[in-house]
Amino acid sequence: MGIWVVYESLWGNTEAVARAIAEGLGTDATLLTTSQADPSRALEASAIVAGAPVHGMNLPTQQSRESATSKKVDAEHAAADLSTRPMREWLDALPPLSVPAAAFDTRVRGPLGRGANTAILRALQDKGCTRISAPRGFLVNFSSAGPERGDLLKAGQLDEARAWGTELASLLRA
Ligand SMILES: Cc1cc2nc3c(=O)[nH]c(=O)nc-3n(C[C@H](O)[C@H](O)[C@H](O)COP(=O)(O)O)c2cc1C
Repeated sequence: MGIWVVYESLWGNTEAVARAIAEGLGTDATLLTTSQADPSRALEASAIVAGAPVHGMNLPTQQSRESATSKKVDAEHAAADLSTRPMREWLDALPPLSVPAAAFDTRVRGPLGRGANTAILRALQDKGCTRISAPRGFLVNFSSAGPERGDLLKAGQLDEARAWGTELASLLRA
């Protein structure tokens, strides 16, 4: 199954970052939503890279996901997609693991404050995973989602995500 790149994403920004990370990781990477990645098969992954959007300086909750659906939806504003499982729930469902792991999130602010990435990495380490590298945050603009999924990302973030994927691949080979 190679390296799993698993994500939760309401408006496609974390998804776009996850895809770029998978590209950087190379042909060994498989891009999966939290609904596609069966936790009971995570033992088959050679490594796990997991990401989610920051909600309330942490991982999204049922409540924060639902509040996202109250945002304006029209021709200029895409609707939040809640069809995939929350990352929080996916992490809880994982069996004990010992694979290398890394975590990322998408957020409005810079490095200040807690994010979702540290919560993801801590949960993976609690399951027994070993840390590949420090958690990473990728930046989105502070505005409502536009008409297209993934259009909140700040310029250059996908290049950074691809480069981080390449760096993770070389750390995994070392
Ligand atoms: C309910 C809610 C709470 C949020 N809280 C934060 C926050 O505490 N810090 C932050 O930087 N961004 C926050 N954001 C912005 C999200 O990080 C942003 O919507 C996300 O990166 C978009 O990713 P996605 O398209 O993959 O869902 C919040 C967004 C929502 C909807």
